[in-house]
Amino acid sequence: MKARTSICEFARWKAGGERFVCLTAYDAPTARILESSGVPMILVGDSVGNVVLGHADTVPVTVDVMVHHTAAVRRGAPHSFVVADMPFGSFQVSEEEAVRNAVRLVQEGGADAVKLEGGRERCAAIERIVAAGIPVVGHLGLTPQNATQLGGYRVQAADAASAIRLIREAALLEAAGAFAIVLECIPEQVAALVTERSTVPTIGIGAGSGVDAQVLVFHDLIGISSGYSPRFVRSYLDAEERLREAVGRFREDVSTGSFPGDGESFSMADEALAVLRQAMTTTSTEEVLKQ
Ligand code: KIV
Repeated sequence: MKARTSICEFARWKAGGERFVCLTAYDAPTARILESSGVPMILVGDSVGNVVLGHADTVPVTVDVMVHHTAAVRRGAPHSFVVADMPFGSFQVSEEEAVRNAVRLVQEGGADAVKLEGGRERCAAIERIVAAGIPVVGHLGLTPQNATQLGGYRVQAADAASAIRLIREAALLEAAGAFAIVLECIPEQVAALVTERSTVPTIGIGAGSGVDAQVLVFHDLIGISSGYSPRFVRSYLDAEERLREAVGRFREDVSTGSFPGDGESFSMADEALAVLRQAMTTTSTEEVLKQ
């Protein structure tokens, strides 16, 4: 049985310049597909809120929701390194609460690590979670939980001053104990500078190719989107169209009577059927109901 990827391996890949991938999963079948495809890191993103639960953004996602989906992913991918997102409100109130919620994601959800959004203001929480024995992934750049505060879903660190701020924050997250840092929607040059300076892997999404790893939302990769697809997404399948075709064929087969066929039905033995038919010719429905 293959051992679960460890944080030491991610560090080794960083040191050896070996790129790796991370994909989101929110359920057991997707996790099973990712594990059997050799994806070493699975992220149970709070994007579960907008990608599969029908919310407009990630803000309504709670710790209970994250525990529920993380546990499903763990059941589907028992040997993968699973990172669970800490949702909005689960780490901002106090460091104690941050530790308590991170513990729930590990203990009840089966996560190997947690991810939380933010820079300097999150360092105390990261230090406490790491001190509790839980590996942490940081997340800088476009942080969807406070997208309103950032002025919407837009490229971050685009001017020199904010790029310098982000580079500093990456160093602070690393010093606080983060073992990897997600960089979302920032100029590729800024992401490359962070990557050059950090000893922990950078995981980019909309951050160019000069990072150590790439993460995408699984549904974006397979072409199931709620309409809007960010520029940084590459779809490898038009699953939405393929699924619609399959459902249409099923509908057609039912309406023409070709589904179910003999191989998809159960049959009664001839003798039993003869007895049943005989009984039905001599018994009315009222009598059957009385028996
Ligand atoms: O929630 C999520 O899916 C994420 C990734 C986009 C990095 O945080």
